[in-house]
Amino acid sequence: MTSRWTADDVPDQQGRTFVITGANTGIGFEAALVLARHGADVVLACRNPQRAAAAEARIAAEATVGKISTVQLDLASPASVRQAAEQLNAQHARIDVLVNNAGGIRPRYEVTEDGFEMTFATNHLGPFAFTGLVLDRLLETPGSRIVTVSSIGHRRGVIDFDDLQGERGYRFQNAYFQAKLANLLFTYELQRRLADAGAGTIAVAAHPGNARTEFGRDMSLLVRAVMSPHVRLLTSWLLQSPQMGALPTLRAATDPSVRGGEYYGPPGRAQFTGYPARVESNDRSHDVEAQRRLWQESERLTAITYPLSPR
Ligand SMILES: NC(=O)c1ccc[n+]([C@@H]2O[C@H](COP(=O)([O-])OP(=O)(O)OC[C@H]3O[C@@H](n4cnc5c(N)ncnc54)[C@H](OP(=O)(O)O)[C@@H]3O)[C@@H](O)[C@H]2O)c1
Repeated sequence: MTSRWTADDVPDQQGRTFVITGANTGIGFEAALVLARHGADVVLACRNPQRAAAAEARIAAEATVGKISTVQLDLASPASVRQAAEQLNAQHARIDVLVNNAGGIRPRYEVTEDGFEMTFATNHLGPFAFTGLVLDRLLETPGSRIVTVSSIGHRRGVIDFDDLQGERGYRFQNAYFQAKLANLLFTYELQRRLADAGAGTIAVAAHPGNARTEFGRDMSLLVRAVMSPHVRLLTSWLLQSPQMGALPTLRAATDPSVRGGEYYGPPGRAQFTGYPARVESNDRSHDVEAQRRLWQESERLTAITYPLSPR
């Protein structure tokens, strides 16, 4: 294999089923497109049916072997999460890879119908519940993986167990960084529980560096301007294309050399741009007590209990 891991390194995926959340745009869409080109069956799990259908049509136009389909999933709605999981479990005999990609940042304090803070619910609680509800299918599928997309922002994240929902003062950056740290704590705890249960399924994390996607859509004009493809010559040191941003996810999802508990992203100190490599997350993400505590809180808040016990 070349030292630059590219989309050409994705092995043939015929007969394998991938479920990707938030696959209608951004790095989720780009990952789905590459997997479809490699013969995978891909389920686009998206909150907006029109955007999902448009993405499905674009991908299906290129996918000659695998089947492309959609399922409606709003990670901020527990009812939608349950319904999507039920549909997947009923319609798919196997799930080879679940990619927890969907995410975003809410500039203002908002709550879900269940009263959870929106950024934490979308990026962590929703994916936690969704994964738990399709876990049986993954466990039944040999060599399956759960890939969760975090961010370099996790380094600035702190889990405020006394105020997980930001009720005592909402700062959108803190809420997002907390949620992205939660993605890693979740992945590492999940991997430990899977290994303890002797499961063939592994949990892996990835991050895209900084990628020019719709991620900044609700942010300030300045952020949107910096993320715009129109200024890419000026920002190429900071941001990469969504195609490049999808590569760590694709590597975590398909590279046969990947092991449970690993984390993939652009290499180097900053990890802003570049081809995917194994990278390290910060010390806080490896705090086993925090991993366990977050898991317990997540099970309590979502009322989803995983069939995996702690050691
Ligand atoms: N772009 C970056 O620089 C960057 C850096 C670090 C990490 N990330 C992470 O990468 C992942 C993908 O982001 P992106 O850059 O591709 O952003 P994006 O272009 O904004 O795509 C985000 C996707 O998530 C979906 N989504 C948002 N809220 C949802 C919900 N409640 N339920 C279901 N789907 C929902 C969006 O659906 P709609 O289209 O319907 O809104 C969209 O499909 C996220 O987890 C993000 O945190 C991105």
